[in-house]
Amino acid sequence: MKKTWWKESVVYQIYPRSFNDSNGDGIGDLRGIIEKLDYLKTLGINVIWLSPVYQSPNDDNGYDISDYQAIMAEFGTMVDWEELLAEMHKREMKLIMDLVVNHTSDEHAWFVESRKSKDNRYRDYYIWRPGKDGKEPNNWESSFSGSAWQYDEATGEYFLHLFSKKQPDLNWENEKVREEIYNMMTWWLDKGIDGFRMDVINFISKVPGLPDGDPVPGKKYVSGHKYYMNGPRIHEFLHEMNQEVLSKYDIMTVGEMPGATVEQAKLYTDPERKELNMVFTFEHMDLDSGPNGKWDLRPLKLIDLKENITKWQTGLHGVGWNSLYLNNHDQPRLVSRFGNDKEYRVESAKMLATFLHMLQGTPYIYQGEEIGMTNVRFDSIDDYKDIEILNMYKEKVIEGNEPVEKVMESIYVKGRDNARTPMQWNDSEHAGFTTGKPWIKVNPNYKEINAEQAMADGNSIYHYYRKLIQLRKNHPIIVYGDYKLLDKENEQIFAYLRSYNGERLLVVNNFTADTVEFRMPVGEFTPTSLLISNYEVEANLPSETLTLRPYETRVYFGK
Ligand code: NOJ
Repeated sequence: MKKTWWKESVVYQIYPRSFNDSNGDGIGDLRGIIEKLDYLKTLGINVIWLSPVYQSPNDDNGYDISDYQAIMAEFGTMVDWEELLAEMHKREMKLIMDLVVNHTSDEHAWFVESRKSKDNRYRDYYIWRPGKDGKEPNNWESSFSGSAWQYDEATGEYFLHLFSKKQPDLNWENEKVREEIYNMMTWWLDKGIDGFRMDVINFISKVPGLPDGDPVPGKKYVSGHKYYMNGPRIHEFLHEMNQEVLSKYDIMTVGEMPGATVEQAKLYTDPERKELNMVFTFEHMDLDSGPNGKWDLRPLKLIDLKENITKWQTGLHGVGWNSLYLNNHDQPRLVSRFGNDKEYRVESAKMLATFLHMLQGTPYIYQGEEIGMTNVRFDSIDDYKDIEILNMYKEKVIEGNEPVEKVMESIYVKGRDNARTPMQWNDSEHAGFTTGKPWIKVNPNYKEINAEQAMADGNSIYHYYRKLIQLRKNHPIIVYGDYKLLDKENEQIFAYLRSYNGERLLVVNNFTADTVEFRMPVGEFTPTSLLISNYEVEANLPSETLTLRPYETRVYFGK
């Protein structure tokens, strides 16, 4: 397997609105990030993925871009951005920018033109269709509830928006659109950035004719996924993008790909095919959802997680590459979702980090994860800001007749605002995030959970992450070794072996609050030393069995 810097990196994701506010307006900004670069350097990460900082009316917090080559005024100026890049490079950190090109904002100059008339030269930059029998052109549902089509008075046609109605989808069939995007990407790369994270990039090719999705009794709008996820021309477009732009730079590229299977991910990331470096898969994020989607809550079965992770670890090994993540700005906090954010918050956060960082792939840490930040429960819907949450609430509670308590519970468990409350820096007012009024409320647990406390405590989650990041730098087996699942049927323990050049690693994780016994893989593995653990561990090495305390994790070197 070819060695590359992006396989050996650990990425930290910044959601700028909620990271650090330098000017007291209650909104995080670029100078706020610069102030915290030394904190990130001490953590040990070497790549930052910056969620969008481009000009935007903020219908979807920057994922609706009105000018790809300008900085959002609330975040600062292009000069601030250039300083951020220079300060990062000075510290040997790389910068990955978010690339949101499945759609723009409806306030983007292209769309402003496009909606003016049917013969405008930008008309075909977007996906316009006449209505069908007085209704929308098809029955697709938007990811943010309701129809994926919006009627536009000026020309009497509908435009497609897979997300909010202020996020019209670009028409990638139009080669002028592709050319404009490639030029814009080149412009950023020439400014010195180190790569792109590509927003829902496997949605850009739609099946011609935009057929109706399969009807679901009682539902007006239904999923159109199979007509735009991994669509017919997606590989052609990504290969073209690679040849026109990406291949000319030594950069890192990661495609956000809901609905991509292992087989598709191989095609996207096999270096021979010249598309992208790695993907964000979603399958493991869907294991605790029922048939009605993310708000349809289901308890996670560890067996399902084991099966899924194993499928990806073995499927991509030696062919392509994957990203490792358990949360981000769209997902609840990992310790609340997969661990125990009460009695065992510290233990379970460390266990989950170990489980993830010892796998093959490039690990991503989402801001606040390294100090064990948790989900939040606001009493009132008025304290929530996310368009996905608000639209869903309106549809189910205000226009529908679902019980408020049930819907609020689903928001507490799955809502995106769980990850978007401000970063907790210290125990002063607003957690040290801002001197003003934060744009979204701070999680009330900031007095106990904050970065200052975590840095001062040698036993904290933060220092544990530092150690994990260091281990990855020191031991190529963690990056390049192969993977084997152990004890497949065990419903409480997720254990696996890694091996590389005659070296072996045993990783054992107790995913429960019970004390459990693990049978050592005698004959397959003989421990020689302990690499890391989240509890005090006896000096002698285990032989036949290992007793694991609640959420205990251990990693052994061996033969
Ligand atoms: C995925 C992004 O991560 C999410 O935050 C956004 O709402 C959608 N794509 C639409 O851009």
